[in-house]
Amino acid sequence: MGKVISLANQKGGSGKTTISSNLAVLWSNSGYKVAIIDADNQKSLSHWFESRKGYYGENDTGIELLKYNSSDFLEQIKEIKKKFDFIIIDSPPSITMDSVIIVRSSNHVFVPVQPTPVDIVATIPFLDLVKKERRESTVILNRVMPRARLTEAMTLRLRYAGAKIARSKITAKVILAETYSVGRGVVDIGINSPSSREIINLGNEILRKIY
Ligand SMILES: Nc1ncnc2c1ncn2[C@@H]1O[C@H](COP(=O)(O)OP(=O)(O)O)[C@@H](O)[C@H]1O
Ligand SMILES: [Mg+2]
Repeated sequence: MGKVISLANQKGGSGKTTISSNLAVLWSNSGYKVAIIDADNQKSLSHWFESRKGYYGENDTGIELLKYNSSDFLEQIKEIKKKFDFIIIDSPPSITMDSVIIVRSSNHVFVPVQPTPVDIVATIPFLDLVKKERRESTVILNRVMPRARLTEAMTLRLRYAGAKIARSKITAKVILAETYSVGRGVVDIGINSPSSREIINLGNEILRKIY
C-alpha cells in the first residue's frame, strides 16, 4: 500500500510545488512508483509536468500526473494507493473544503514555510487545522537564507506554537527556480549539488516519518 503525503499551506509561495516536484523526481529516480496530484487551481505542478514531458518525452517522465477530483477523493485515493509507492499532493494556497479533504487523505502533511514572521503568522491556522483533523504535520523550512539569525528565532516561534519541524532545511537557491521551468528536479541534474543533498536528506527524513 502506497503512502500519501501532501505539501500544504494556505500561504502561497512557500514552496509547495517546488518541493512536490523535487520529491517526485527523487523517489522516481530511486526506482519507486510515484504519482503526483495537482489540487491547486493555479496548476503550477501540471505546468511543470508538461515541461517534463517536453524534456524527457511523453512516456519517460518517470512520474504519473493524476487528476484531483474533490467529489469522492477519499474513495479514489484508496484505489490510487494500491498502484503507487508514493502519492504526492500539491495543495491549494487556501483553507477550503479541498484542503480539509487533502489533509484527511494524507498519511502525513508537510508544511513548507519560509522562516519570516509574516509567513509564520499565515501558517499557524493551517497547522491548527491539521491538528483538528488528527493528522500529523511537519514544517519544512524553505528558502532559508544562510546564517540568518531570523531563522533561529522563527524556529523557536514555530516550536512555541507546537509545530514539529523537519531537521532537513531547504536553502534559497536559484537552481530550484531554474529546474522548475524546464520540468526537472535538482537530482535530475546531479546528486552532489548542495540543493540535491538537501532534497535527498529531506526525502530520507520523510521516509523515516511515514514508515
Ligand atoms: N528554496 C528555494 N530557493 C529559491 N527559490 C525557491 C525556493 N523554493 C521556492 N522557490 C521559488 O519561489 C516561488 C514560489 O515557490 P512555489 O513552490 O511555487 O510555492 P507554492 O507552490 O507554495 O506557491 C517559485 O518561483 C519557486 O521557484
Ligand atoms: Mg504551488
